[in-house]
Amino acid sequence: MKKGKKLYEGKAKIIYATADKNLVIQYFKDDATAFNNQKKSVIEGKGVLNNRISEHILSNLSQIGIKNHLVKRLNMREQIIKLVEIIPIEFIVRNVATGSITKRLGIEDGTVLKAPLIEYCLKDDKLGDPLISEEHILAFDWATKSEIETVKKMILRINDFMIGMFRGVGIKLIDFKLEFGRLKSNGKNEVILADEISPDTCRLWDVITDKKLDKDRFRKDLGDLIPAYTEVAKRLGILHEQSNLSSVNNITKLSSVKKKNK
Ligand code: TMP
Repeated sequence: MKKGKKLYEGKAKIIYATADKNLVIQYFKDDATAFNNQKKSVIEGKGVLNNRISEHILSNLSQIGIKNHLVKRLNMREQIIKLVEIIPIEFIVRNVATGSITKRLGIEDGTVLKAPLIEYCLKDDKLGDPLISEEHILAFDWATKSEIETVKKMILRINDFMIGMFRGVGIKLIDFKLEFGRLKSNGKNEVILADEISPDTCRLWDVITDKKLDKDRFRKDLGDLIPAYTEVAKRLGILHEQSNLSSVNNITKLSSVKKKNK
């Protein structure tokens, strides 16, 4: 499918038009950002891994009836997705308290929550994605009551499925972020899952060692981000073909050669 003009560039992805007005191409960049863009780096190979991992998770979610924007992966860095109007809210789902909630509420890091906790943040970089309540969402028409109810039901099913999927490969799903969009079909709006689900948007800890296998490796300067993301992909059974493995390895090797030459 031919790539048209750039429609939108975010921190980790770019959206391009296609000849079909209902479909766009989502390109995964290697850029890593944290703390609302204050910390930035380029980690070669990250986009390739996130493209594969997100494709795997979203196609599995499709199979259990969670409608989402993924149509198909095109190549190492790109996928065709359905064009949706993104609901301007980041839906954060927490199973274990860590990260911002521990600082905000003084909760001890690693506290297992009695039930999944859903938090809402307004998707606005200029404001630093502030935490908001359901009442704010309704007061300012960011989503309707029925959209919130639909999304909440989807979130709980997604969380259940992902906890099991990761548990099966020795990984604890600590928390994650989801985005949803409105798909216009027959003049009506249907809410579907959008964006990506990857180690950039989840916290994933090894079941036995609690080793962090996600973007906290970058946020907390722990290093070895690519080996951690590769480990997630391998455990999920994505990187079994030799060709794919060597492609990611080549990208990472290339990046370390470039760094040495700097
Ligand atoms: P937090 O503890 O920093 O609020 O993050 C909660 C989860 O949401 C964690 O898995 C990381 C993810 N997340 C994003 O994907 N994008 C974001 O902009 C933020 C703030 C968090």
